[in-house]
Amino acid sequence: MVKIIAIDGPSGAGKGAVGSMLAKNLGFHYLDSGALYRLLGLVAVRHKIDTGGNHNLTRLAENMDIGFEVRADGDNRVLLEGEDVTRELRTEKTAALASQVATSSQIREALLLRQRRFAKAPGLVADGRDMGTVVFPDAPLKVYLTASIEERARRRHKQLLENGESVSLRALEEQVRSRDERDMSREASPLVAAADAVELDTSELSVHEVVDTVQNIAILRGLM
Ligand code: DC
Repeated sequence: MVKIIAIDGPSGAGKGAVGSMLAKNLGFHYLDSGALYRLLGLVAVRHKIDTGGNHNLTRLAENMDIGFEVRADGDNRVLLEGEDVTRELRTEKTAALASQVATSSQIREALLLRQRRFAKAPGLVADGRDMGTVVFPDAPLKVYLTASIEERARRRHKQLLENGESVSLRALEEQVRSRDERDMSREASPLVAAADAVELDTSELSVHEVVDTVQNIAILRGLM
């Protein structure tokens, strides 16, 4: 049986940093499901397909040519139609597009199987908004990460600066707040903690502390 650890939560809660480190430590595969929504937003703009429409976008969600690579130095790279789009994927513009396409139930359905195909032996760490509730509802360990809005905006701000994008912290806080609102209030698979998820507030914790906590729970549950 493939061991699955589902990590959900709002943006900036630490899912990406925690999920990728956890996967590396455990020797598991890693799914950054947000990247699929971001890629779809990006490819739609490139092919001039209306991100508010549904039919063509759903077909694109099923067929888009994407790839995930882990480099020898442990760096994760994302490819779209053979081109490295890792940097473009992390911009605020792409995040907003992703949040928009993610509201459609047809698109979520089209991406469901693609996400499930990442579940391979020995295990998978999957991060997103509905990993524990919809995509992997039988996952033996579900984690829901949160953090204060101020701390999440501060982390996003740091990531964006590292990516060469300058946005004011105050504007970013507003953008994060409005994406949270859209992700939590949409009808299709809204962001919500699974009933059986372990909830962790990471506001005052380092990535290592969160990873250690999750690993200890994974040991208790016989996942490692
Ligand atoms: O985790 P992220 O910031 O890369 O996600 C980008 C957007 O994609 C986010 O606003 C909500 C959406 N998303 C989703 O609806 N379901 C997921 N499993 C992952 C991301």
